[in-house]
Amino acid sequence: MPRVILGVCGGIAAYKSVELLRLLTQAGYEVNVIPTQNALRFVGIPTFEALSGNPVNTSLWDGGGNVTHVDQGLSADLIVIAPATADFMARSTSGIASDLLANILLTATAPVVLAPAMHTQMWEHPATRANVDLLRKRGYIILDPDTGPLTGSDVGSGRLPAPKQIFDAIEAQLHANTGALVGRHVVISAGGTQEDWDPVRFIGNRSSGKQGVALARAALAAGARVTLVAGHMDIDPPAGAEVVRALSGEQMHKVLVSLMGEQPDCVVMAAAVADFRPVALSATKIKKAEGVQNIGLEQTTDILADICAQRGTGVAPLIIGFAAETTANSDELTKLARGKLAAKGANAIIVNNVSDGQIFGSDNTEVLLVESHNVTGPIRGSKLNVAHAVVHRLAELLGPLDSGVPASKE
Ligand code: CTP
Repeated sequence: MPRVILGVCGGIAAYKSVELLRLLTQAGYEVNVIPTQNALRFVGIPTFEALSGNPVNTSLWDGGGNVTHVDQGLSADLIVIAPATADFMARSTSGIASDLLANILLTATAPVVLAPAMHTQMWEHPATRANVDLLRKRGYIILDPDTGPLTGSDVGSGRLPAPKQIFDAIEAQLHANTGALVGRHVVISAGGTQEDWDPVRFIGNRSSGKQGVALARAALAAGARVTLVAGHMDIDPPAGAEVVRALSGEQMHKVLVSLMGEQPDCVVMAAAVADFRPVALSATKIKKAEGVQNIGLEQTTDILADICAQRGTGVAPLIIGFAAETTANSDELTKLARGKLAAKGANAIIVNNVSDGQIFGSDNTEVLLVESHNVTGPIRGSKLNVAHAVVHRLAELLGPLDSGVPASKE
């Protein structure tokens, strides 16, 4: 997992860096916290050490014979400073290396994300504006502060952006456009289907759409044209994707079959399609008194199996399915995924353990990407992080753009 340095400057918003630290570690990142001396007036070293699981250095003179700031700066995959104060940004513009954090910043080659927090007057002061402009020109990502209640009774611009917003900016930077899917068309189904019973009832499932949407975001970041076939989702589709709504399995089937006609390069079936639907849709609400005898179920079409059968063998598109299983044993998961690979004819199955419903709706996950002769994973962390790893493998399987067909049909 990438290594992130979390710099914390001395401002009241320093307490929010603790929540950011938690988001980062929960998503699986290795985090080293570097607070300034003033940051320690607001949050103590034990909090940062306990939550990061790493020792916290504050001085250039810690670390014995190691040149800590150079080691740390060079080995980081990303540096985030939250909160970044007006003073810290002013020092950064002229390369003043008066503390460990400023030294690390001078040695860093990784992307730098700054999340400023200060009073409105300080944020709007011409000196701060000039410093922000200069740092942005040098390539630093500087988030605009939020507007809202400040420390005192006043309201204005200068609040630290929400930790989740900073976290999303970090992930976007870590997975910045690799260009691996430029010129490719990727179709992704997401969310859960709803199979209507009568005007008020349906059969549904717990899918939130988060993994499918994360895949769409990762494919877009890699430069693909993305069509998102959306069932019921708890979240909005990402900007930039072409969205086709398909609430029932039958609608989703029709949409996928028609999209196959566009000859996409890849189809990922991340949607949780209901396996059963009511035999008949009642035009009127079924009354309790009618009992359960009128409620028959039939199987829905297996869309994944059907589009794989339509495609035939050895030709595009690359088709990836998902499997939700209830075992934690990775050999068992691989075996179950291989069974589904063979049964459905897909190129790969992304399998996860959904025991206790712990994956549904969560921001984090753990999966294996199983092909017939290769297993990638376990891939863990945020659903976006997992999506980037899947997109990376997908680009490998597709091969160079001019080859036209997947490198291999596993
Ligand atoms: N799928 C589909 N159409 C269906 C049901 C599932 O396209 N009617 C797809 C899902 O989008 C997923 C994959 O099939 O990519 C695996 O679905 P899953 O429900 O795990 O497998 P099933 O074949 O339904 O087997 P079982 O429920 O018995 O495990």
